[in-house]
Amino acid sequence: MFAIPFLDLPPLTKASGQIRLPGSKSISNRVLLLAGLAEGSTLVHDLLDSDDTRVMIEALRSLGCGLAQEGAALRVTGIGGRLSVHQASLFLGNAGTAMRPLAAALAVLAATQGGQFELSGVARMHERPIGDLVDALRQLGCDIQYLGNDGYPPLRLAGQPQGQLATGAPVRVRGDVSSQFLTALLLALPLASGGDGSPGADIVIEVDGELISKPYVEITLNLLARFGITVQRDGWQRFTIPAGSRYRSPGAVHVEGDASSASYFVALGAIAAVDAPVLIEGVGNASIQGDVRFVEAAVAMGADVRMEANRIEVRRGAWPLRAITLDCNHIPDAAMTLAVMAMYADGPTRLTNIASWRVKETDRIAAMAIELRKVGAQVEEGADFIEVRPPAVWQPAAIHTYDDHRMAMCLSLAAFNGVPVRILDPQCVGKTFPDYFEALFKLAHTHHDQVPVITIDGPTASGKGTLASTLAASLGYHFLDSGSLYRVAALASLRQGVADSDGPGIAALIAKLKLRFDGPRLYLEGDEVSDQLRREDVGSRASKISALGDVRAALYALQVSFRRPPGLVADGRDMGTVIFPDAALKVFLTASPATRAERRHNQLISKGISSNIDDLRADLEARDARDRTRAIAPLQPAEDALLLDNSAQTVDESVAQVLGWWEERRPFGA
Ligand code: DC
Repeated sequence: MFAIPFLDLPPLTKASGQIRLPGSKSISNRVLLLAGLAEGSTLVHDLLDSDDTRVMIEALRSLGCGLAQEGAALRVTGIGGRLSVHQASLFLGNAGTAMRPLAAALAVLAATQGGQFELSGVARMHERPIGDLVDALRQLGCDIQYLGNDGYPPLRLAGQPQGQLATGAPVRVRGDVSSQFLTALLLALPLASGGDGSPGADIVIEVDGELISKPYVEITLNLLARFGITVQRDGWQRFTIPAGSRYRSPGAVHVEGDASSASYFVALGAIAAVDAPVLIEGVGNASIQGDVRFVEAAVAMGADVRMEANRIEVRRGAWPLRAITLDCNHIPDAAMTLAVMAMYADGPTRLTNIASWRVKETDRIAAMAIELRKVGAQVEEGADFIEVRPPAVWQPAAIHTYDDHRMAMCLSLAAFNGVPVRILDPQCVGKTFPDYFEALFKLAHTHHDQVPVITIDGPTASGKGTLASTLAASLGYHFLDSGSLYRVAALASLRQGVADSDGPGIAALIAKLKLRFDGPRLYLEGDEVSDQLRREDVGSRASKISALGDVRAALYALQVSFRRPPGLVADGRDMGTVIFPDAALKVFLTASPATRAERRHNQLISKGISSNIDDLRADLEARDARDRTRAIAPLQPAEDALLLDNSAQTVDESVAQVLGWWEERRPFGA
């Protein structure tokens, strides 16, 4: 995928509309592992497709599980608790929900059936503690070695066939650093309970210290039950896995929408759903995810919420939001969203009991404090709390995201203040919500003139299209190839037999055009016409009809409608002069006729069409003259356009040049 270094969010004003959440990360990765360990196959519906689930799926594949796409669902055929692959190196990215449970399951399987497994991840994964889990597994007799620093991945898990685990005494595990250690044991130890016919006994797990993030353990227990394992629980201190437990596939599982991801849209509604609600589909009050309780916190801050079983409707209630003080131990991930909502509150908001933030994808307390201060908030942080006072003056800021999806999603909500926000490395949202920004921009609105536009005008074959589309891709902006609209009008008029001089006739046709844009593809009445638009007869008809005032007027509204958050790069002839006269950056691109003729020549050769360079050049010069001298929208640079002659430049050089000009006009500083 093309890496976007930053995404600039324009100042946003309101939000409304409907969003379907991606699947829950916590449920997806637990279900994948359970299905992979179980006997039989499980059809998993609505699975989250993200970095963290992809590493789990790859790990299961390496372990010999069957994985087959069935329509939108994934069929997982499990190993039935018996290792078929005894040696593997698994790379688990930065997915704690893969590292911890796989470490436990493979340690137990290697110790009883023999094998050797290495588990590693990205650098940050090697800074995230796993020692408490390893200590617990070592009590059972598992052979686990640290390959880097003690207490942290990477790990090597080994064992001999017919090994025995010491399950007679309770296994003790700390519960106050990460609840994932307990979850990992709960998911893995049924493998050692004798369900495979070996002599078995009840396995007892005892938690040392106060168990944090209990709702995540509830998800684990709930999913274990669906896979046939009923864990007995005494308070939150003692858990018993009955002897002879065996994972049995429930046949099919539907993954709920992600409740932590829902928090951004609940917040969006509380902050900006002024005229109509934000409707969130995929979680509701029937959810098994603890993070749905984020809604209670949002309501305490003033959100107006209606919850149904599988849907949440949010509007702005109190405004400004109300400051709160809240123990967030039960909603550790979603609570980050409260820290950003706090900037819209009527006083200081204090979130307590959040020490676990410090061992997540990054040190989230430190990261949040630094980034909220950048936009103007006053922030106090402690070992296990954060206190946020709303900014007196909001500052445009470039937000570091620390390879932490939640930092990116949270801070995007800082854009509702009249100042733009730059999110660095925005694609880190791929960990749990690859389409987050698309979803945000579907719901969030702003004033038309707040959406930044870059215009690239210039003569034919100057390389506008390549420059503009590359710029749009690297900025994460929309792209308008206005020439394609003249071309599609030309094609439609050809098909309908409307004369190329009949301005009103073509304008009437344009008003009724059924167009759909899908990235670089354009559909007319449902048919993809992208290739037909490049035809020579279509191009020359486009050139003719583009001189008709009625045609230009008829295409005006359509062109303007491309101006949507986060921004637009538009290429054509009159983008900077007529369509977007208030564009923030206007570039007029030229190249010598000789260079342009050569480029067109090479383009034609690559399509297998022969041509003569001199003829091409004469043709280009004639077209230039016609475009420059036509009465309506003649081709000329806007007064405030920057001229760029790219005759001697590569595409990368021109892109870098224009990005440099753009950067000078942005308010984010170096
Ligand atoms: O850039 P292109 O070759 O795809 O454009 C097709 C025709 O449309 C070209 O002859 C010029 C005309 N055009 C225009 O008049 N104004 C624009 N903004 C874009 C294209």
